[in-house]
Amino acid sequence: MCGWCAVGVVCKMLTMSRAEISDDDRADVGAFIEKFWQGRAVMSRGKKFFPHEEEGFLDRRDGEIVGLLTYHAGEDGMEILTLNSTIAGAGIGTALILSAIEKARELGCARTWLTTTNDRLRAIGFYQRVGFRMVAINLGVVDKARKSKPEIPEAGERGVPIHDEIVMELTIKPYLDSEK
Ligand SMILES: CC(C)(COP(=O)(O)OP(=O)(O)OC[C@H]1O[C@@H](n2cnc3c(N)ncnc32)[C@H](O)[C@@H]1OP(=O)(O)O)[C@@H](O)C(=O)NCCC(=O)NCCS
Repeated sequence: MCGWCAVGVVCKMLTMSRAEISDDDRADVGAFIEKFWQGRAVMSRGKKFFPHEEEGFLDRRDGEIVGLLTYHAGEDGMEILTLNSTIAGAGIGTALILSAIEKARELGCARTWLTTTNDRLRAIGFYQRVGFRMVAINLGVVDKARKSKPEIPEAGERGVPIHDEIVMELTIKPYLDSEK
């Protein structure tokens, strides 16, 4: 245990191999977002974001993006906007989320948080394993968001109907003076 995150399971080695999004990546990042999120805009708590214009981490293999995490850091902590991996179970998602947690710590964020939807059962388990907790369920928010973004599908993973938003949060431990 290295004590980087609230649960102390973050591995420094894993966070080192992911690159931060640079301006040269923006076009590819936009195309990647469009492929997985039915357009370039994503909704969170009723607010619209354009993740390809935000900061984040990516993993490329043979030039192709195989994993992407985008975030927005502000007074409210670091909000993770999107996370996708195209090679399941190879550790790409874990490395990206650990990079984001470490970045949040570097930026002095007290927490990192995200919203996901009730159908994303695998992601909900994945986030809890890294230490995120479910802190709120916004009932019917996706049904409302679908009115302004009709591309949002009615059903998601395993045909589960998509209605609700789940807010997940991880408290970030600040650096000790001896770690700076
Ligand atoms: C959630 C998501 C990002 C995980 O990405 P991933 O690259 O598959 O993640 P990892 O490989 O790091 O870990 C996932 C699983 O592989 C396992 N794993 C990790 N490294 C592994 C390895 N080297 N060998 C075998 N299994 C491994 C993990 O234990 C984990 O188990 P799980 O299937 O029970 O979750 C991915 O499933 C995804 O893109 N989902 C769709 C989009 C989504 O839901 N995004 C989040 C919405 S906010």
